[in-house]
Amino acid sequence: MTGRIFSGIQPTHGIQLGNYLGAIRNWVKLQQDYECIYCLVDLHALTTVHDKDAMTRNTREVAAALLACGVDPKRSILFAQSNVAAHAQLAWVLNCVAPIGWLNRMTQFKEKAGKNREKAPVGLFVYPVLMAADILAYKATHVPVGEDQKQHLELARDIAGSFNNRFAEGFFPLPEPLILGEATRVMSLRDGRAKMSKSDPSDMSRINLTDDAESIVAKIKKAKSDAIVGITYDPENRPEASNLLTIYAALAERSRADVARQFADTPFSTFKAELADLMVDKLAPITAEMRRLMDDPGHIDAVLREGAARADAIAAPVLEEVYAEVGFLRP
Ligand code: AMP
Ligand code: TRP
Repeated sequence: MTGRIFSGIQPTHGIQLGNYLGAIRNWVKLQQDYECIYCLVDLHALTTVHDKDAMTRNTREVAAALLACGVDPKRSILFAQSNVAAHAQLAWVLNCVAPIGWLNRMTQFKEKAGKNREKAPVGLFVYPVLMAADILAYKATHVPVGEDQKQHLELARDIAGSFNNRFAEGFFPLPEPLILGEATRVMSLRDGRAKMSKSDPSDMSRINLTDDAESIVAKIKKAKSDAIVGITYDPENRPEASNLLTIYAALAERSRADVARQFADTPFSTFKAELADLMVDKLAPITAEMRRLMDDPGHIDAVLREGAARADAIAAPVLEEVYAEVGFLRP
């Protein structure tokens, strides 16, 4: 595979285990072989976060988490979306290409808007168009994400194709999703049929990268389980056991089948204790590094400033080409 990697994460409420296993860990690995651009998508976060201090705090916290997980700002570009004008500018052009019907099909909008769709901000509706602009502003070819973003990625491909057809054949590469690893969809600890998410009102439903060892142990202990002895992978009938098994396999970087074999006769309580140990082992160093970084916001801001300059150097010329292709007079 050759190409350029782009991905984004919303600076909403810090980072949870699903973000880490579904996305960020893959971002870190991909840096070894590819040019990678990673973006804190604050413009996207504004669709749901309307609190000035929380926005600033979360942006620094998520930056710290990415750095602590191993995103290397010397190798990759790490920056905040609002600092590079091309994202919003290209989004407007794409808004004029993407039909409303395509956006009406987006399941995430339906989930997030809920029952009162009339009151949902317009930004939430066009969120996937901005996401397409993020990727296309860099002519990125591959996008590492969790499974929940698959539909948005398909839309980004369709929008790219539509622009190419109308204005310039072959202009944008059609970006491909990279959905990698065992844990592409980590589920809530309280409900094996719901996605683990930063926005779940119950903190017991997720592991945050800021959780200390004590709360990790407590959350795993209280995680929903079933009365069957032995851990098996059976997402239909045993969603909770399957989720915990998947998390274990992903953290241990082993296959699910292999882990299932090991715990085939193990009672839930013993398995949970082992899972909590493994989790603390893997996450504690990240949490410690994250805390250290958060004590130095000046350093984080400097990393993001430099990342924005490098990102702008790629995206601004692409936007210029787009403006020329649609026929805007250039001064
Ligand atoms: P978000 O926090 O919604 O901006 O998501 C950032 C990245 O984490 C995206 O690539 C998502 O697909 C991924 N992600 C979020 N939640 C989960 C989850 N529960 N399981 C796997 N991946 C996830
Ligand atoms: N919508 C993505 C999410 O919630 C975040 C995102 C925004 C993104 N722009 C992107 C992911 C571009 C990949 C590429 O997870």
